[in-house]
Amino acid sequence: MKYTKIAQGQLKISSVCLGCWALVGDATWGSQEKDDSIATIRAAVDVGINFFDTAEFYGTGYSEQILGEALGADRDKVIIGSKFIKGAKAEEITAACERSLTNLGTDYIDLYHIHWPNRNVPFAETVRALEDLKSAGKVRHLAVCNFGPADLSDILDLMVPSVNQLPYNLLWRAIEFEVLPASLAAEVPITCYSPMMQGLLTGKFRSADNVPAGRARTRLYSGDRPEASHGEAGAEEETFTAIAEIAEIAEKSGLDMAAMTLAWLIRKQSVASVIAGARSPEQVQHNAAAGDLTLSDDVSARLDEITEPLKQKMGPNADMWNTPSRMR
Ligand SMILES: NC(=O)c1ccc[n+]([C@@H]2O[C@H](COP(=O)([O-])OP(=O)(O)OC[C@H]3O[C@@H](n4cnc5c(N)ncnc54)[C@H](OP(=O)(O)O)[C@@H]3O)[C@@H](O)[C@H]2O)c1
Repeated sequence: MKYTKIAQGQLKISSVCLGCWALVGDATWGSQEKDDSIATIRAAVDVGINFFDTAEFYGTGYSEQILGEALGADRDKVIIGSKFIKGAKAEEITAACERSLTNLGTDYIDLYHIHWPNRNVPFAETVRALEDLKSAGKVRHLAVCNFGPADLSDILDLMVPSVNQLPYNLLWRAIEFEVLPASLAAEVPITCYSPMMQGLLTGKFRSADNVPAGRARTRLYSGDRPEASHGEAGAEEETFTAIAEIAEIAEKSGLDMAAMTLAWLIRKQSVASVIAGARSPEQVQHNAAAGDLTLSDDVSARLDEITEPLKQKMGPNADMWNTPSRMR
């Protein structure tokens, strides 16, 4: 497993992180047994993953609770990233952090993220609340998620986020247009969420009709899908053509498709870690292999080439769902 230093060298995180959203079993992911979630987290520790991503929003605190319970006495050996709820007002941030600490059964959060930028609250007010939490020792480092160039530029006047957590994978390269260059210029490393595009890049779904409705609602899918609310045409044909080509490259190269697509991200400049969701120890083990895999220049270039038409079709809007808060 490779490790990267962030936060002025004060945190050393594994290049593969365990994303703990799906472990709650919800409308997006379907049901999930608690024992399986605990075993998944333990398997991550066993394979050298030391970075765990959660949020109060995931299962209304349940993801944090399972993570805290599974880590137990190993808590101090790992880096926990959590986030406060979308749209929290400044005075609510302290309370949200206290709830997260209780859920996690810890007295500090290593990396505390703004889950989505919220322009209804002045950034200065939000940052003041976060700096107070830092001074109290409740959070160690501050981070952001879903900050586009304009939001990043404004927050940089007030704080330097340790990372910007963004949607990034072979099928969702929108950040390459504007967001990634802005983060690079500001020297803010990236952590990548949905690095397998919610499972598509494992090759398990070969057509949009096979994807569970709760997942078939990102902008890659037709806006006519039952749970989609973005109202756009999507790019289902281009997406599944690219998946078939990616699967072929993995097969010809003798590589596990999930690990190959994660390794494609890990080698990108400014990517500090890929936040890979998993629901079983087996999935964690497959995904963690990316931390030991170095892709050849040829394979990486071919993956770039194959997914370029989809990238061009989807354009620079990096928001996977067209959330009301939007990325800008
Ligand atoms: N900051 C934000 O706004 C934000 C937004 C979204 C996510 N996140 C974070 O990013 C994390 C990861 O994103 P994500 O969960 O959306 O997507 P993902 O990591 O691209 O996909 C994870 C899902 O793919 C399937 N999978 C994983 N590894 C597999 C393997 N080796 N073989 C077969 N199937 C496999 C599993 O679901 P099935 O087994 O059910 O197929 C798993 O839950 C989340 O857990 C969360 O921590 C952050």
